[in-house]
Amino acid sequence: MIVLGIETSCDDTAIGIYHSEKGLLSNVVSSQINLHQEWGGIYPELAAREHTKNITTVLDLALKEANITLKEIDAISATITPGLIVSLVIGSSTAKTLSAVLNKPFVPVHHIEAHIFANFIHKKEEYPFIALVVSGGHTELYLIEEFGKYKLLGKTIDDAVGEAYDKVARILDLGFPGGPIIDKLSKQGKKLIHLPKPLSRKKQEHRFNFSFSGLKTAVLRQIEKNSNLKIEDVAHSFQETTVEILVEKTIDAVKEFKVKKVVVAGGVSANSRLREKLKEEAQKYNLQVEFPPMSLCTDNGAMVAFVGYKRLLRNPKGYSLLTQTKARVPLDRFEQYLQKY
Ligand code: KG4
Ligand code: ZN
Repeated sequence: MIVLGIETSCDDTAIGIYHSEKGLLSNVVSSQINLHQEWGGIYPELAAREHTKNITTVLDLALKEANITLKEIDAISATITPGLIVSLVIGSSTAKTLSAVLNKPFVPVHHIEAHIFANFIHKKEEYPFIALVVSGGHTELYLIEEFGKYKLLGKTIDDAVGEAYDKVARILDLGFPGGPIIDKLSKQGKKLIHLPKPLSRKKQEHRFNFSFSGLKTAVLRQIEKNSNLKIEDVAHSFQETTVEILVEKTIDAVKEFKVKKVVVAGGVSANSRLREKLKEEAQKYNLQVEFPPMSLCTDNGAMVAFVGYKRLLRNPKGYSLLTQTKARVPLDRFEQYLQKY
């Protein structure tokens, strides 16, 4: 079976093609980063305009890379939530149109589910596990019992971790997106400036929630207070503190739910210090840790095609073309959402 996956939830126009026996056939991503850089963040109308402009070219390239024609595709999947609605609509409408014209099933996909399962495109799945989702729009911890059975343990109550990286980079005038820049710069930093770790008390209720807005403000205050601070020390301190928060809460969840496996997902899973520190801690507790390959950390169509395939195995006829594209549907309610149609 061959599934095409379309991802346009934010600023990447991406299409991947997954073959159930041969694996990933293609994964084409057209990034808009250069255009959004001058705004210091994602400008939604600009993102939508670029998706419209690029999506047919990306489709052609994905088919070429896979060396197949549209007629050979067995199903079309697309991210329908969460994301920027104007961006989501372009990918999901393209998928629905292809599905109607080719008379092949349409499979709606949840962006977070796709990020989590990107870890298993090239590897076997084993349940249960704790998923740490860290991206520009999300910071969440889930208990994953099986495909489709998810329990949200905690989430950010303000900024997402990738958003905090991007905002701190803006404060330090480093450019956009801030994550990879701070990650690189922090390696040159030596001095550790004390920064707060909000919501880090173990006993408190909702202890799996995150908060990064105060941390970002603390960075700003430190710079205002001391103009001699070295920028690489600030980057190093922010990264160390952020990674400590993420790792401590993940290990706490692993212990609480007595699982033996952690899966990291989303753009921030590319972070070098997070990879290093979580692997170190995992060794102490005899845990298995999975990170996606670098090419599948940030937004891509391969993860959408793969999850589309998994969902299609459960529901071979696919889903109604009336399934609505939404800015936000919580992952743990996505199954019920699909049943409505
Ligand atoms: O998953 P993603 O591509 O898009 C969303 O769904 O949000 O994540 C993008 C985020 C950005 O905030 C970017 O700064 C962050 O991932 N990011 C990183 C790194 N690479 C990308 N953050 C920290 N370290 C990195 N190496
Ligand atoms: Zn994403």
